[in-house]
Amino acid sequence: MAKRIAILAGDAIGPEIMTQAIRVFDVLEKHRDVKFKLVEAPFGASAYFSHGKAFPDETKVVCDEADAILKGPVGLSFEASQKIPVEEQAERGAILPLRARYNTYANFRPIFLSKDMVHFSPLKREIIPEGIDILLIRELVGGLYFGEKERGVDKTGKRFVKEVLEYTEDQVRQILIIGFKQAQKRKGILHNIHKSNVLMSSVFWNEILAEVHKDFQDVEVKNILVDAAATALCLNPSQFDVMVMENMFGDILSDQGGGILGSLGLMPSACIGPEKAYYEPSHGSAPDIAGKNIANPYSMIGSVAMMLEMSFNMVEESKAVWQAMQSVFEKGYSTSDLSSAEKGNIVSTIKFGDLVMQELDKLLMNS
Ligand code: IPM
Ligand code: MN
Repeated sequence: MAKRIAILAGDAIGPEIMTQAIRVFDVLEKHRDVKFKLVEAPFGASAYFSHGKAFPDETKVVCDEADAILKGPVGLSFEASQKIPVEEQAERGAILPLRARYNTYANFRPIFLSKDMVHFSPLKREIIPEGIDILLIRELVGGLYFGEKERGVDKTGKRFVKEVLEYTEDQVRQILIIGFKQAQKRKGILHNIHKSNVLMSSVFWNEILAEVHKDFQDVEVKNILVDAAATALCLNPSQFDVMVMENMFGDILSDQGGGILGSLGLMPSACIGPEKAYYEPSHGSAPDIAGKNIANPYSMIGSVAMMLEMSFNMVEESKAVWQAMQSVFEKGYSTSDLSSAEKGNIVSTIKFGDLVMQELDKLLMNS
């Protein structure tokens, strides 16, 4: 039976990079006994303008019926967003409800740069002689993002705001288990990112961690404060392998991860729930470069690679997609949005897609 995939192309550069990413499915169908049924649906700011809602009901149905969801970046520039009511702006109106609907609590954000791609990083080569290979795991449906929010005026007539950071022990346990399992699969080291010198939520988190650790005694835990981790990511990223953290810490440190890679454009991600998963680039919709055919589709194609592995257990095919993208970079091709002037034959989004598909075609033909 065909695998059903909901395609939410999103806003700004979304449709351009999505067009390249879904070509992977055609190449796979050509070489493997597999069929994909792609169903496009409106999502984000464009959906608000066409359907009056950032996450329209018909899109919810498409997602409910899908085996997996592939989502492009959404959102508009700050100025353009002002034309949309706050609750329907793409982040609050589409992304967070999508995460909540499918309880996609486990967010995998690989911070990866092969040895041949170190020139993309702003870090000195001697800091990352072997490239960068970190798996950042972010809790995605709890904490400040989903806590109660209140605005008001106090007795003295001054305005105030309150935003609650809330976690249940089950929520913390389930993401830590994911962290431990990934550490087991990789180097057996888990960096626990916390702020227990100040936040009660981190004291709580660390208590649960100590309990969960008993079931994963082969994993070494290294505790590091979130602020120190930010520095360490710049000075010595090689010390990290798997990092696990709560939602807000993960939002910030994963963008820093993109920073040390040289671009958020190099960061795909997977958002995994108990029954459904969706895959998306970690970056925004880059309205400033939309429609110019210059955005690199790596993060979107990489999101397909993650889907193949994590939703469909197509491990070999997933590796082939990664490898195809690496070889395009190794051959010196790049797009102008990526910050590497050092080496590079600059090509368009479409051409980059062509090159990846050619490589993938070759790889799948020979395996
Ligand atoms: C991300 C994004 C989102 C987040 C926004 C767009 C809601 O920044 O996926 O990291 O803050 O989680
Ligand atoms: Mn973010």
